[in-house]
Amino acid sequence: MGHLVPRVLGLFLSLLILAEAARNFQLLQQRVLQWREVQAMKETLSRRQLLLPAPWRAPSEGVLRQPLDHFNRQEGRAFNQRFWINEEYWHRPAGPVFLYIGGESALSQFSVLSGHHMEMAEKYGALAVALEHRFYGASINPDGLRDDSLRFLSSQQALADLASFHLFVTQKYNLTQNNTWICFGGSYPGSLAAWFRLKFPHLVFAAVASSAPVQAQLDFTGYNQVVAASLSDPVVGGSAQCREAVAQAFSAVDQRLRAGQLAELEKDFHSCGNLTEPHDREQLTSNLADIFMGAVQYNNEGFQGGSVASLCTIMINGDLGSPYQRLIAVNNDFLEAMAFPCMENSHQRLMAELRSTNLSLTGVGERQWYFQTCTEFGYYQTCEDSTCPFSRLMTLSSQLDLCTQVFGVAPERVAEAVTFTNEYYGADHPKASRILFVNGDIDPWHALSVLTNQSRSELAILINGTSHCANMNPSKKSDPRPLILAREWIDYHVGDWLRLARKAPSAS
Ligand SMILES: *[C@@H]1O[C@H](CO)[C@@H](O)[C@H](O)[C@H]1NC(C)=O
Ligand SMILES: *[C@@H]1O[C@H](CO)[C@@H](O)[C@H](O)[C@H]1NC(C)=O
Ligand SMILES: *[C@@H]1O[C@H](CO)[C@@H](O)[C@H](O)[C@H]1NC(C)=O
Ligand SMILES: *[C@@H]1O[C@H](CO)[C@@H](O)[C@H](O)[C@H]1NC(C)=O
Ligand SMILES: *[C@@H]1O[C@H](CO)[C@@H](O)[C@H](O)[C@H]1NC(C)=O
Ligand SMILES: *[C@@H]1O[C@H](CO)[C@@H](O)[C@H](O)[C@H]1NC(C)=O
Repeated sequence: MGHLVPRVLGLFLSLLILAEAARNFQLLQQRVLQWREVQAMKETLSRRQLLLPAPWRAPSEGVLRQPLDHFNRQEGRAFNQRFWINEEYWHRPAGPVFLYIGGESALSQFSVLSGHHMEMAEKYGALAVALEHRFYGASINPDGLRDDSLRFLSSQQALADLASFHLFVTQKYNLTQNNTWICFGGSYPGSLAAWFRLKFPHLVFAAVASSAPVQAQLDFTGYNQVVAASLSDPVVGGSAQCREAVAQAFSAVDQRLRAGQLAELEKDFHSCGNLTEPHDREQLTSNLADIFMGAVQYNNEGFQGGSVASLCTIMINGDLGSPYQRLIAVNNDFLEAMAFPCMENSHQRLMAELRSTNLSLTGVGERQWYFQTCTEFGYYQTCEDSTCPFSRLMTLSSQLDLCTQVFGVAPERVAEAVTFTNEYYGADHPKASRILFVNGDIDPWHALSVLTNQSRSELAILINGTSHCANMNPSKKSDPRPLILAREWIDYHVGDWLRLARKAPSAS
């Protein structure tokens, strides 16, 4: 406990020391996380300013001792899992509990301070609690990234962690059936939110699952199909011309690769090392594609110029020369915006990073997340389909190779794991109730989510013109109308669930 401001500044400084990552996409993701935290901090501080000088308490942070393996009590080891609790808005004793679920990156106190769920926590008098995902952020043992430890990392274990956190909070606050739990999550945690409701309906009354790819898929070709559609979507500043120019530029890159014009490519795209190694050429093409994929997935949030509109402005500007030359301009702007002296295309370095068992307590857990893709979800964003505007070198087999080389998981095993995940959770047709699936139509991940109403209480909404998890950010006056309406729709259902729960507290 304590005052927020100094801790916030401390956090801000810690955000500047970002985890290393070899691929542009991961770097962008780190940037977005950082950007969102800074926005949350600004929003929290400006909201507080209105209330000053009234003193207030920062959320409390704690750790919960959890079994490493919930499903084997002969395994006696445990780890410390980090959580945050904000009691500020809670109407004691019967107010609801809003659970914010963590995922593939470190959580912070902002998970119980800022965001649409916190606007609703204030409105509905909720106790806000958040749990960091096992093996990410600080919720990991020092040897947690070793191969023999990673077997305790799975969505099933994560859901069991949530059940045990439910028990912990219930005991800590003497909660009863009168305290209605609603869970929230975005991206992978969006899937966890839906699955927590699906598998533990006696613990959580309802769920809001934002941008949740609940359908596991080995070869996620749909990702780049949506990226292509978003690059041609006028709602976000795209056009057919832009999409076409991107496809031509990448095809020119592929041509040069086939013709062995490596020196030219190294120079044009400021490669840190030479492209002698075939894997490094694949890395170059995926790094270039990442600039577009990142701009689409995090439209306007990743880096200066990282929006569909600004990339398309460059890609359709004939004054810059051929589409290939415009791609060079896009890459130059990207390197400048990220303050990179050159583009890191070393596949060997990527492998070393994925293999490294060094812990990084901030940002995305790259090694852990790659492990979860190999053992549960797949989600490989390939480009072998004719509708994909990027390089044909982005293949499924090159991504599966990493599973084998880094974790010793053979391609057939990855495929089996993906099939099992869908069988276990119900893919895009889970038989649950009281879940809202919220997606943005620009976001490539929506292709693996639930897009149609499944039943009277398992509802889907697709927001026109927004990207990944946009609805979870704090409301802003400048938000587009479809986003404002979506938040109102979510708020309406949350209020409706709470009324229903009061009428029939034991309903599940
Ligand atoms: C919970 O109940 C116990 C026993 O009735 C009591 O001692 C404790 O203060 C209560 N805790 C809270 C947070 O209300
Ligand atoms: C729940 O609330 C109702 C109405 O306020 C009250 O009568 C009941 O005792 C509460 N139940 C529990 C378990 O606290
Ligand atoms: C490419 O780089 C590697 C490692 O830095 C070096 O060993 C090799 O000689 C270089 N190849 C060429 C053709 O420059
Ligand atoms: C891991 O940590 C060791 C010791 O601090 C360091 O030498 C090594 O470079 C690190 N490895 C990676 C991939 O960061
Ligand atoms: C889903 O259900 C909601 C509420 O019942 C309704 O307003 C909406 O039109 C439905 N959506 C679709 C795509 O059928
Ligand atoms: C999204 O909104 C735009 C107007 O901003 C409209 O032209 C377009 O048809 C809408 N798209 C869908 C899929 O409803």
